[in-house]
Amino acid sequence: MSHPAPDAEPRPPVNIGSVTLDSPFALAPMAGMTDTAFRRLVKRGGGCGLVVTEMVSSEGLVRGIDRTLEYAEYTEEERPVSIQIFGGDPGKMAAAAQIVEGMGADIVDVNMGCPVPKIAKHHAGCSLMRTPEHATEVIGAMTRAVSIPVTVKMRSGWDGEHVNAPDLAKRVEQVGAAAVAVHGRTAAQSYTGRSDWSLIDEVARRVSIPVFGSGDCVTPNDLVGRMRETAVAGVLVGRGALRNPWIFDQARAAWGGGDPPPVSPRRRGGFLLAYIDLLLSEATEIEREGFRHTAGLDRRVGPRRRNPASRERWIVNKLRALGSWYTKGIDRGSHLRTAINSAPSLDALRAVIRDFFELGDPPPAPDPFPAAAAGPPSGRASAEA
Ligand SMILES: Cc1cc2nc3c(=O)[nH]c(=O)nc-3n(C[C@H](O)[C@H](O)[C@H](O)COP(=O)(O)O)c2cc1C
Repeated sequence: MSHPAPDAEPRPPVNIGSVTLDSPFALAPMAGMTDTAFRRLVKRGGGCGLVVTEMVSSEGLVRGIDRTLEYAEYTEEERPVSIQIFGGDPGKMAAAAQIVEGMGADIVDVNMGCPVPKIAKHHAGCSLMRTPEHATEVIGAMTRAVSIPVTVKMRSGWDGEHVNAPDLAKRVEQVGAAAVAVHGRTAAQSYTGRSDWSLIDEVARRVSIPVFGSGDCVTPNDLVGRMRETAVAGVLVGRGALRNPWIFDQARAAWGGGDPPPVSPRRRGGFLLAYIDLLLSEATEIEREGFRHTAGLDRRVGPRRRNPASRERWIVNKLRALGSWYTKGIDRGSHLRTAINSAPSLDALRAVIRDFFELGDPPPAPDPFPAAAAGPPSGRASAEA
């Protein structure tokens, strides 16, 4: 396989304030997709230097809304972890950043890229880019309020007439932002056209803090190529990671001059089964206490409190959402996508996955009353006997 030659000089690790990344390749925030289960599995695949949560409402954090707090949960194995928040009020964003810091997150990121009207009309998301002074005020309030690094994820601008990422990046750097990520499309473009990497390069040359580029990197060599051709410190991968969660490990190998390791169908199938298991463990509250980082969350809320049928539906829907990306670009992918979309239950989903990836029959369920376990009663009962 051909791949770009490695850098002549190895680069030093990327530092976002006090946080050092062991790889310049990071998982982009994606609402509905980059939940803690998905992030954990990405980390286990290797090569991913940073994960970012789905966007979380600052308003919801400050008001302690359960569902919002749930989106911000993460686990120790995801570190370093960045929690992305959105909002337009400097005071509330500063208070939300303090909550994020209190949860023990490594970084708090600000969403200045979301083009959705529901968010934009509250002067949040990409709408902040239309008022750079106000956007800068939000970031300044946050950097004064917390000691963890504050970062900003923006688009190239609001529309073609207002491409201001280089100027806004400079402004937020001046009030203490520790890094910036740029998706090289305007809000008006949404996901049409191509991400403008020459604009991203311009931002990276304008500021001294690390700049991460985002947009259209779907192969390991895309990531390595962007690192070589532009001044970015790192690359955020979104949709490419939903198709191929091993892209980080593969890019790291290519960045070092090697061949990206192939991913076997067994591993691809195993990923989906593991995703189901992690979602299920979240939904049934079997996680060890202290393992998750929460913000005073009542642990019976959200997916954990749903009845078994709605829990199952939640997981089936999650698999359908991931399946719509994960099946792209693989042999008979559309066949798999259709089968996932029509599987009515978790058992049916597992069977579809086992069958498609030829994983064989599942191991038999453990005997609930193994002979070896029979013996004197243990614990409290035996102590009292
Ligand atoms: C389903 C989906 C959800 C997204 N949600 C967010 C989000 O919550 N916050 C954000 O800053 N960007 C979000 N993005 C944008 C991505 O982080 C990324 O910048 C964009 O998809 C371009 O990168 P890609 O071509 O690698 O996907 C989302 C993108 C997708 C496809």
